[in-house]
Amino acid sequence: MIPVSMIIWAIWLVAAADAEKVVEIIPASGDTQLHSSKLFLCKVKGGEAEMKWLYPNGEEIEDGEDKRFAVETIDETTITLLINSAETHDNGIYTCVSTFEDRTEKRVTVEINVVPPPTARISEESVNATAGSASSITCVVEGHPHPHINWTRNGRPIKMRPGRFGFNSDQSVLTIYAVEKTDEGQYTCIATNKINSSSANVTLHVSVKPEVQLERSKEARPQESTSITCNATGDPLPTMHWVRKGNKLVSDSRTEISQQPLSSSLTLQKVEPSDGGIYTCVAASPVGEDRRDVIVQTIPSTPDNVRANPGAASVDILMESPKQIEGAEILRYKLQWREEEGRSQWSTTTVEANNSLTIAGLLSDTSYEVRVAAINKIGEGGFSAQHKVRTLASVALSVSEKPGVGTGGIVGIVMVIFLVLLIAVDTTCYFTNHCGLMMCVAVNLLGKRRPGAKGLDEEERNVSTVKCSQ
Ligand SMILES: *[C@@H]1O[C@H](CO)[C@@H](O)[C@H](O)[C@H]1NC(C)=O
Ligand SMILES: *[C@@H]1O[C@H](CO)[C@@H](O)[C@H](O)[C@H]1NC(C)=O
Ligand SMILES: *[C@@H]1O[C@H](CO)[C@@H](O)[C@H](O)[C@H]1NC(C)=O
Ligand SMILES: *[C@@H]1O[C@H](CO)[C@@H](O)[C@H](O)[C@H]1NC(C)=O
Ligand SMILES: *[C@@H]1O[C@H](CO)[C@@H](O)[C@H](O)[C@H]1NC(C)=O
Ligand SMILES: *[C@@H]1O[C@H](CO)[C@@H](O)[C@H](O)[C@H]1NC(C)=O
Repeated sequence: MIPVSMIIWAIWLVAAADAEKVVEIIPASGDTQLHSSKLFLCKVKGGEAEMKWLYPNGEEIEDGEDKRFAVETIDETTITLLINSAETHDNGIYTCVSTFEDRTEKRVTVEINVVPPPTARISEESVNATAGSASSITCVVEGHPHPHINWTRNGRPIKMRPGRFGFNSDQSVLTIYAVEKTDEGQYTCIATNKINSSSANVTLHVSVKPEVQLERSKEARPQESTSITCNATGDPLPTMHWVRKGNKLVSDSRTEISQQPLSSSLTLQKVEPSDGGIYTCVAASPVGEDRRDVIVQTIPSTPDNVRANPGAASVDILMESPKQIEGAEILRYKLQWREEEGRSQWSTTTVEANNSLTIAGLLSDTSYEVRVAAINKIGEGGFSAQHKVRTLASVALSVSEKPGVGTGGIVGIVMVIFLVLLIAVDTTCYFTNHCGLMMCVAVNLLGKRRPGAKGLDEEERNVSTVKCSQ
C-alpha cells in the first residue's frame, strides 16, 4: 500500500517537473514578409526533449523534403525552422512538439502569416516649385497593417510646423505652404509597419521669379557720361536687357551695355538732351519676367517750331507742345530779344513754364529778333533759332482808341480847305470881273465905283447884291 504522503509527494514532483518545463517559439509573431526568409526558434527550458516541427496539417516537417522549409536540431533544447521565400499558401498554424524523457509532451504553436512588405512610392522623381507658392508631395503607401509614414529632407526628420509644413491625416501628403529657396533638397517618405519599411525619394527644385531693382530717376549732366545699374534676382538666372521707346538697346558708339550675372549696366556717353526719358530694365527667365523704369533727366532740348505773335509793345512767343520735351519737367523759359537794327545786346526775361511767354515793354513798329530756351532742374537747354518779328505801329492804336477827336480833326481840315478855296475864287473874281465878296465890301464900305462896268450894269449889280447878301 502506498502511503498518501507518497502520492502527494509524487503528484507534487510531477507537477513541479511539469511546471519547470517551458517551451517557447521566438519570435512569437508569425508575421512573415512575402518572398523573404524567416527563422523560428523553438526552445525548451527546464529539461531536455526530443523536438520536431509540424505543418499546419499535422505532418512532420522533414528536413530536405521541401527545400523551402529547413529544420535543424541544434541541441536537446533547441530546434529551428527556416522558411525560405515565404508564400501566402504557407499561411497556417505551425507546431513545435517537445517530448521529454518522462514521455510527457508539450506543444507550442506559431501562426505564420505571409504578407507583402509595405511599399512607398512617389510618382515624380523631381518636383519643380516656384518660390512663394505652395507645393505638395504625395507618397502612395500600401501595406498591412497600414504603415506609419515619416518624412525627411536630406535625412533630417520634418516636423509639422503651422504655416510652413503640414500633413494630411495619414501623413501621406506633405505640403510646404510657401516654398523657399532653402527648401530645396531630397525628400524621403518612409513607410513603416511591423513587417518592414519602405522609402521613396523625390528631389525638390525651387525656382525664383526674376525681380529687378532699379533706381527711379537719374540726373545726367550734358556732355558727361552717366551709368545706370540694374540688379536682378532669380533662379534660374534671368537674362537682362534694356528697352527704350519699345526698342531693345544694343551697345553702340554712345551707348554701352555691360552684363554681369544678376546685373546689367547701361552707360550713356556724352549725354545729349535727346537722351532724356524713360529706360526700362527687363529681367526674364523661364519662370517669369520683371521690368522697371528709370527716368533719365537731362537738360531740356532746344525749342523747335518757335513762332512770335506781335503786339504794339509786346511779343508773345508760341511753341509747338513745349512741355513735351523729354526728361525732367520744364520749370521756366528764358526769353531773349534785341532790336534787329543796330544789333544791340540781348535783353533777357525768365517766365514760369505755366505762364504765357510774353516779352513786354517793347517799342512799337520796331523789328526785333527773339529766341527762347527751356530750363529744368538740371539746367538750361539751348536757345531756339532767332525769330524776326516787327511790333505793330502805334497810330492804328491811337485811332482806334480816340475815334471822336479824329472825326473832329477831319471836319476842321475840310473847313479850312473850303475857306482857302473860297478866298482864292473870290480874289480871282475881284480882279478879273470886279464882282464877288471883295467887290461888295469895297462898294458898300469905301463907296468905290465899279471900274469899267457900263454895259452890264443892272445885271452885275444884281449879281453883286446877291453875293453881298450871302
Ligand atoms: C523642372 O525644371 C527643370 C529646369 O529647371 C526642367 O528641366 C524640368 O523639365 C522641370 N521639370 C518639371 C516636372 O517641370
Ligand atoms: C516617425 O516619426 C515619429 C514621430 O514623429 C517617431 O516617433 C518615429 O520613431 C518615426 N519613425 C521612423 C521610422 O523614423
Ligand atoms: C525588409 O525588406 C528587405 C528587402 O525586401 C529585407 O532585406 C529585410 O530583411 C526586410 N526586413 C524585415 C525586418 O523583414
Ligand atoms: C533615397 O536616397 C538615399 C540617399 O540618396 C538613398 O540612400 C536611398 O537608397 C534612396 N531611396 C530610394 C528608394 O531611391
Ligand atoms: C545693385 O547692386 C550693387 C552691388 O551689390 C549695389 O551697390 C547697388 O546699390 C545695387 N543697385 C540697386 C539699384 O539696387
Ligand atoms: C505757376 O507755377 C508757380 C510755381 O511753379 C505757382 O506758384 C503758380 O501758382 C503757378 N501759376 C499758375 C497760374 O498755375
